[in-house]
Parts: sequence; C-alpha cells; structure tokens
Amino acid sequence: MREQLMQTTEATEVKVEAKLIPIYIMGKKYEVPETLTIMKAMEYSGFKFIRGCGCRGGICGACGTVYRLPGDYHIRVGLACQTVVVPDMYLTQIPFYPANRAVYDMETALPELAEVQKKYPELFRCVACNACTKVCPMDVPVLDYISAIKQGDFKKAMELSFDCIQCGLCATRCMAEMAQYHIAQMVRRLYGAKLAPQPKHAAEMVDDIKGGKYTDMLGDLKSKSLDELKKLYTERESEPHMSPEDWKPQDTSCL
Ligand code: SF4
Ligand code: SF4
Ligand code: FES
Repeated sequence: MREQLMQTTEATEVKVEAKLIPIYIMGKKYEVPETLTIMKAMEYSGFKFIRGCGCRGGICGACGTVYRLPGDYHIRVGLACQTVVVPDMYLTQIPFYPANRAVYDMETALPELAEVQKKYPELFRCVACNACTKVCPMDVPVLDYISAIKQGDFKKAMELSFDCIQCGLCATRCMAEMAQYHIAQMVRRLYGAKLAPQPKHAAEMVDDIKGGKYTDMLGDLKSKSLDELKKLYTERESEPHMSPEDWKPQDTSCL
C-alpha cells in the first residue's frame, strides 16, 4: 500500500529553525518542525509523493488526509497541503477513494432528475445524516446540494457545489455509499450545457472565429520570435481592476 502511494527518499532539508514535534504517519513516529503542513512534514520525514499531491495550493483535491488527536475520538480531516501539523497527530492520506462514477453521453443526456437518478440511484439512499458536510475541507454544504438535486433544483445544486474540489472525503463518510461529488459534477455539467442561459457574446465570438476574423492575427503572432512575443506581452494594455463594463483598449484592432 505504502509503496503504491509514495516512495521514501532523502529527507527534505528545512532551513527554518522550528521546534520539532512528534507526529505519526501511518503508525510510525517522526519528529518534524511544528511549522510545516502535513505534506511538507511527510516530505521532511522522507516520503516522496508520487500520488496524492497536485497543486499544493488547496485546489486540486488530491491530498485528502484523515487524522486523530490524542484523547479525542473525532476523526478529523484536512488537505495535506493546507493543514499544519500538531503534536501527536496520527495521520494517513486518502489520495483516492473508489467511487461509482457513471458514464453518460452529454449530447443525449436530459437535464432532468430522472436522468441523474437513472445513473445514480443511490442518490435516494441519503439519510440526511450530514456527515458529508461536516467532513468537507472546503466547507461545501454537501447535504444541501444533495437535497437540491433530489428536488430537481439543478441551479441551486450547481451553486452550492461549485467550490467542490473532488477530494472524495465526503464519500468516505457516506452511509448511503454514494460519491456525492460525481453526482454534483453530472448536475453541473447538465445545467451548464442545457439549462444555463447561453451568453450571446460567446456565440458571436465563435462565429467570428469560424468566419476567420482572427486567422491573420494568429498567423502574425505565430511568426514572431520569443523575444518579440515577450515584448508584446509586457507592453500590452491591461484592463484595470476596477474598469467599467464597457471598457475597451485604446487599440481596438484585435476586437
Ligand atoms: S464536497 Fe466532497 S469531494 Fe467536494 S470538496 Fe467537499 S468533501 Fe471534497
Ligand atoms: S453522508 Fe451520505 S447519507 Fe449522510 S447526508 Fe451526506 S449524502 Fe446523505
Ligand atoms: S495538493 Fe492540491 S489540494 Fe492539496
């Protein structure tokens, strides 16, 4: 198991001077600087991540971790790249959780509850225990979005589940044995493709691209050297942070 997830390597050198504290990684004790995140503490202890690590910034959901603290029955969770170690924590990573992931054809799938229920009948096994919401490291209201899906309110489910990073920790606690995040992803896809209002300007832009409006401009860019491209990029006119909605650059030739 351990070999599949990570390999041990030379300990990461930590330049900062920090107090060392004991933590237990998969049952083995290590002394690590108290300022490190779980991920860096594991690397400091000699582990090399070959799975269970992606963005290192709390976005990709690859580093779900469970831990317990001494004298506390709670199972705690966190993202290894975001959670700082505490003394005597017992931890292990759950970088992947086996989950039912339905296959569907977005061309023919209908944006209806029945379609989602057909692919994920376990949706209606939810007992509203709320364990999923409590475990979510992104504070996503998981039970609420599952309830919205059950009510066929795809817009609400899309909005409530938008911050999900697919870490899979909610599925580890679900007594209905569902993978909430895959169900919500199907709903967001259906909503985005078939229910959300279509932006007129995007359709116009696609028509312009297909009509060849930008072909010469792109060809011109592709013919430039790296230095010319860098110069163009650094000297470009940027949109101000607080620009009005109708803001336009002075040079409108590329619009
Ligand atoms: S909803 Fe589930 S998969 Fe998404 S971030 Fe929360 S715990 Fe992770
Ligand atoms: S953990 Fe599962 S059963 Fe409990 S509220 Fe969440 S989705 Fe429903
Ligand atoms: S490595 Fe991406 S969320 Fe932690």
